[in-house]
Amino acid sequence: MKVVKTIQEAREIIAAWRKEGLSVGLVPTMGYLHEGHQSLIAKSVSQNDRTVVSVFVNPIQFGPNEDLEAYPRDLNRDMQLVEATGGDLIFNPEPSEMYPPHFTSFIDTTETTELLCGAVRPIHFRGVCTVVGKLFNIVRPDRAYFGQKDAQQLATIRRFVRDLNFGIEIVPCPIVREADGLAKSSRNTYLSPAERQAALILSKSLKLGKEAIENGEKDAKKVIEIIKANLATEPLARIDYVEVVDFENIQRVDTISGETLVAIAVYIGKTRLIDNFIIG
Ligand code: PAF
Repeated sequence: MKVVKTIQEAREIIAAWRKEGLSVGLVPTMGYLHEGHQSLIAKSVSQNDRTVVSVFVNPIQFGPNEDLEAYPRDLNRDMQLVEATGGDLIFNPEPSEMYPPHFTSFIDTTETTELLCGAVRPIHFRGVCTVVGKLFNIVRPDRAYFGQKDAQQLATIRRFVRDLNFGIEIVPCPIVREADGLAKSSRNTYLSPAERQAALILSKSLKLGKEAIENGEKDAKKVIEIIKANLATEPLARIDYVEVVDFENIQRVDTISGETLVAIAVYIGKTRLIDNFIIG
């Protein structure tokens, strides 16, 4: 397993693989890898001859008051996890390698980014799509792997890959949870022990919403009410949003039918956590 910092080094290694006729999978990450990332890497390793993992805390997807500086980083730990999971190459560029002076070109998306996180983090998806588009152009993978935990990100990346003809297969991977139900996230490390306990309210509230739908509830407003009412029982939780949207276009639905995403964002103390389920 190799770690490279420059686009040129990454391209040379990948070009040599391509000469041998090998297939390539890409797992884009911001590092501080956990079992969620590990499941993406393992999936890529099982489907491709070579797997590239990018580790890059992408500054342009963080708003001015967000946690860019505080975002956890530990490349040595990431290297061990990638190696143990069978990854072949870590691409770990500096921000200046990805964003040279006068960097002024972006991938901007509409529709799928209007609601949910897009509504409250205005520049976030432009930053995500731009860096993912750059990674696609640098690595030129056959397949790229994204977790369903960031469901709006997944829907948005699928859309720009289709709209802009990137010709890359986007492979969605299920949410990985702690034994008690909390969705794995690098940001879980921000939680104090009391907040960690309080954070269980996300998965518990979603479970109630899911059960209601499975028992025949089709009214999106009622499902939202059930989830909000349960979130309100946790004093450390502050709701950012609870939404029911169609998974393809990320637009609100009144009646639940077809592939539907039920997504929430909740502050536990100062930490903003997201979670969701997809039904249908
Ligand atoms: O999901 C993430 O970790 C990031 O948004 C991504 C896709 C690596 C882009 O920076």
